Amino acid sequence: MSFLDVTDLDITYTVGAGSLKAVDGVSFSLRKGESMGIVGESGCGKTTIAKGLMQLLPKNGAITRGSITLNGRELVGLSKEAVRRLRLKEIAMISQSAMNALNPVYTIGDQLVEGIMAHTSFGNRGAYKRAVEVFEMVGLEEKRMRSFPHQMSGGMKQRAVIAMALSLNPSLIIADEPTTALDVVVQDRILHRIIKIQKEINSSMIFITHDISVVSEICETIVVMYGGKVMEMSPTDTFFRRPFHPYSLGLKNAFPLITEITDELISIPGTPPNLLLELKGCRFNERCPFAQQKCAVELPLFYEPEPGHKVACHFPERVEEFRERSSHRDTWEVVRERLIREYMEKGAVEYA
Ligand SMILES: Nc1ncnc2c1ncn2[C@@H]1O[C@H](COP(=O)(O)OP(=O)(O)OP(=O)(O)O)[C@@H](O)[C@H]1O
Ligand code: SF4
Ligand SMILES: [Mg+2]
Repeated sequence: MSFLDVTDLDITYTVGAGSLKAVDGVSFSLRKGESMGIVGESGCGKTTIAKGLMQLLPKNGAITRGSITLNGRELVGLSKEAVRRLRLKEIAMISQSAMNALNPVYTIGDQLVEGIMAHTSFGNRGAYKRAVEVFEMVGLEEKRMRSFPHQMSGGMKQRAVIAMALSLNPSLIIADEPTTALDVVVQDRILHRIIKIQKEINSSMIFITHDISVVSEICETIVVMYGGKVMEMSPTDTFFRRPFHPYSLGLKNAFPLITEITDELISIPGTPPNLLLELKGCRFNERCPFAQQKCAVELPLFYEPEPGHKVACHFPERVEEFRERSSHRDTWEVVRERLIREYMEKGAVEYA
């Protein structure tokens, strides 16, 4: 048993046209003090996992299978009150949208102090002292406690949100694209600050992003998701030295490490699958340059090329070939041309 164990997790949204499985059979574990990156393109289910862990799914979303244990305690099916107590103290989330949730009519300091008092036995004084401490941790001066949200820049507001999330030393931090709205220099500074604090308070962290190059800098393990499923998971250093899955190889081209940047980026042609449709086989098959007939009908199981490294692809024996070919633009251009051809043919059929 690890600090956090997610096992066979399904999360489904009910929508007008039916139901949409945004997270499909996802399993992973996280050790105490460890940071894990969850990566993948838009719509692959990253935020849904975060909301499932926080028990913050919208009304039309539900965990329909599986288990989430934190420190040995099952979170699926907990009462609302138990979940409320869990948030902030044990699990805290920093999201991009949290900045907009700051109350415009209260000072940042009042909001922070109130949050601390609501979850601890601190009185006003103790809570204020703690608030100043976390403000310092995120690099904000004490005088900023008296500012209203509109008096602060985007970077300052995001730091205030981070201060709130970390004020109770949560044992698990979930950071969902926490800096995307900020400029690159501020992003970098804030990211490194989050990591520093996470290490200082020995929290575990799940860091969600679409940019795998960021994960290489700050996370110990990586989970690559596509269409609601895990494609590959591994210790980060192994992953960046020996990626296996064709989707991971495509993401690496699209988000190269600083040391590997070449003149032109190679993107993955096409878009992720529509999860409202019944999907068969490997979720990546439409966009995969190496797909065979079998890929469209048979779901690949995980194989483990080395301890702790799992990959869901039918062709482990072809990995050297995949790595070599995926680094060439032409390999992906063939997919782009095929997708355009299929799109035109489909359009013609619908028109007829
Ligand atoms: N409230 C909702 N109702 C119905 N479908 C939803 C809802 N929220 C998300 N979805 C769908 O669930 C799937 C996963 O969405 P999710 O937001 O988890 O993806 P993501 O990986 O976080 O994407 P992004 O990188 O854009 O933030 C998508 O197909 C999305 O359209
Ligand atoms: S199973 Fe097939 S479609 Fe999926 S990644 Fe492997 S080769 Fe590509
Ligand atoms: Mg998201």
